[in-house]
Amino acid sequence: MARDPYPLYRRLRDTHPLLHDEVFGAWLLSRYVDVRAALADPRLVAPPPGRSFAHLEEATHDAHRALVSPALQGRALAALKAGVDRTAYVLARRLIRLQEADLVEEFCHWLPAAAVVAALGLPPADTVRIAPWCRTGLTHLGGVPADLDLDAFLRPHLARRRAHPGGDLLSVLCTARTDGRPLSDEAVTGLVATLLGAGGEATGRALAALLANLLDHPAQLALVRARPGLADAAWAESLRRDPAVHIVLRRALAPVETSGGTIPAGATVACLVGSAGRDATRFADPDRYDVFRAAPGQLAFGAGRHRCLGVQLARLTAGSGLRALLEALPVLRWAPGFRPAPEGLLTRSPAAVRVRLR
Ligand code: HEM
Repeated sequence: MARDPYPLYRRLRDTHPLLHDEVFGAWLLSRYVDVRAALADPRLVAPPPGRSFAHLEEATHDAHRALVSPALQGRALAALKAGVDRTAYVLARRLIRLQEADLVEEFCHWLPAAAVVAALGLPPADTVRIAPWCRTGLTHLGGVPADLDLDAFLRPHLARRRAHPGGDLLSVLCTARTDGRPLSDEAVTGLVATLLGAGGEATGRALAALLANLLDHPAQLALVRARPGLADAAWAESLRRDPAVHIVLRRALAPVETSGGTIPAGATVACLVGSAGRDATRFADPDRYDVFRAAPGQLAFGAGRHRCLGVQLARLTAGSGLRALLEALPVLRWAPGFRPAPEGLLTRSPAAVRVRLR
């Protein structure tokens, strides 16, 4: 199943659109319409246990979203672009002299981490120290890690921002007041952990999937090279076909009707985002990767009040990364004999993207 979930997804969509999986301990939703409705349904909430952003009590959650979101869009986002472009350029130029490279190891692990480090306002040089936190254990939506190293790393940064706030996101979090009180160090660290996990893990995985899709379709790769304006469409189509977050879990506060029946109150629900993107009733020839597909949809970022806050930062990061790689590397094709092997069930992407560069 973890190796290739798509045949099972197809069977589920066709014959069991709502199925209780004993092993997983959850009700599986696989059709596009049901997954979209479930993600946006206020009766389906983040499942316990967890202390992540998504688990915050409703008013606190909304307040924290309002704090974070301005830093990840509009003018604040535009101000990050030059730095992300520069990092992408430096990372891509390091590959020029190599004959072969693994783009996950050399590129996808680093660029998204650098982008979130910049968004937070942490020193760029600390990306090397921070990147491993992005990919080990800080699963995007899984919760705040009990990571003492991250606490220790952030403590002096938090103290400095509390004493001398600047214009960065970390300063915003350190000076914010919710319910008349400042956020505790623990709360700020929790938010930072969610952002690092999201920016690092999810974007890194989605970038790896984008590169794999383009390498698998050299004609479309050539088109994107010739027409950089297609990069956004290539990204959206890759997120549809191979989303980084394959499954979003919810818990039902009340009974919820779906195409296949009724989800009972108290049940855990697995929204199979990876299956929704391959639903033939929504997407013609859904297994095909096609940068010209009209309206690939955006369930890869969720929906409703938990919809991803990093949609635009992720797109900016992927766009910068792709542009830098294509400019630096006139030759880009699979290394001989290499086939990518997507890994993971909740989050999923190729573990390696091994390419020949000459
Ligand atoms: C391609 C990259 C990314 C993907 C595929 C992705 C996907 C998702 C998904 C599926 C959700 C859950 C939505 C739901 O429960 O309905 C989510 C939530 C979230 N994402 Fe992302 N994400 C990505 C990048 C980012 C980035 C770069 C950031 C910020 C640096 C970010 C921050 C968040 C936050 C804070 C939430 C929680 C929102 C809430 O609960 O209100 N994500 N993301």
